[in-house]
Amino acid sequence: MTGGAGFIGSAFVRLVLEEQPDVSIVDYDALTYAGNLENLAGVDGTRHTFIKGDICDREAMLAAVPDGCDAIFNFAAESHVDRSIHSADEFLRTNVIGTQVLLDAARAKGVRRFVQISTDEVMGTLPDDSDDYFTEASPLQPNSPYAASKAAAEFVVRAAQETHGVDAVITRCGNNYGPRQFPEKLIPLMIANAMNDEPLPVYGDGRNVRDWIYVDDHCRAIWSAYENGRSGEAYNIGSRNEQENINVVKAILDALGKPHDLIKYVTDRLGHDRRYAIDPAKVETELGWKPQTTWENGLAATIKWYQENQSWVNHIRSGEYKEYYKAMYGTALG
Ligand SMILES: NC(=O)c1ccc[n+]([C@@H]2O[C@H](COP(=O)([O-])OP(=O)(O)OC[C@H]3O[C@@H](n4cnc5c(N)ncnc54)[C@H](O)[C@@H]3O)[C@@H](O)[C@H]2O)c1
Repeated sequence: MTGGAGFIGSAFVRLVLEEQPDVSIVDYDALTYAGNLENLAGVDGTRHTFIKGDICDREAMLAAVPDGCDAIFNFAAESHVDRSIHSADEFLRTNVIGTQVLLDAARAKGVRRFVQISTDEVMGTLPDDSDDYFTEASPLQPNSPYAASKAAAEFVVRAAQETHGVDAVITRCGNNYGPRQFPEKLIPLMIANAMNDEPLPVYGDGRNVRDWIYVDDHCRAIWSAYENGRSGEAYNIGSRNEQENINVVKAILDALGKPHDLIKYVTDRLGHDRRYAIDPAKVETELGWKPQTTWENGLAATIKWYQENQSWVNHIRSGEYKEYYKAMYGTALG
């Protein structure tokens, strides 16, 4: 797998090692600002090998794929929309070229299946107050540079399949939440700010809708798509849990016993998609997948994790996780 030191990738490592006793993982990650070895603390080192490397580095990538490797899961990405608005270069490099390099490595090493972790954002936005949902038949019409790079990655996966016969499945999930999410994303940002009595910045009118899913449910769906998905298919993953941003923020403040006047409305994000909502009928019926975590339980568990792991947040906010890296590897993180 790639990107296993990130938020979802590290959850996937834990889940797979716990639930699939015969599986060993090689975890290839560049440790960008979003990759953090602290996310892998306590992981069983006998079945998990970490390699620091860039997904765009062809030679290193090829060397990292072990002989007899059964599957590649591609989580590595630049993943933050706001950063892509500021500068798109890294997004195209990692998310598109990196995916091509990885597909080439998969072919060269005869890997049986390629799993591309994509996003619902490739399908653009849905109108407010409609009964429309993203399905696998929805056109790809990305609106942010991040979403465009992820859509382009889907196309290079498709091309490898059509041209070279690579066995590949694509998963498209909605917004994830859970422990160890980098505190620039909505939920951990709001939890961290609320815990510190700092203002909670909410874009625009706060009424943008996201379809939230607990990270472990996403990871189980990815595993199901790998095990039982049909080659060449995309699978939309969602928990049928649409929430307006402002309600997410209020729920966090309420859970922490903090006042709503910490909310501060700020200028909207450029090109801010209004609503994402996923119809997960295909994963439910074809793969027999169902989410196991309710929004209420998942949010409570997430808040509890951030309360109990304030040092994790503080390390990131102060840049100390780079020290951790230096202590482990003896060189400074880029
Ligand atoms: N977070 C979400 O809500 C969400 C929803 C749907 C899909 N996804 C997708 O899931 C995947 C993981 O998302 P996340 O939220 O865990 O992201 P993240 O930003 O927390 O982690 C990304 C990881 O990729 C690594 N990485 C970045 N560039 C790399 C490169 N050039 N070479 C090797 N490794 C590199 C980083 O070091 C980091 O560990 C991404 O592909 C993302 O598009 C995320």
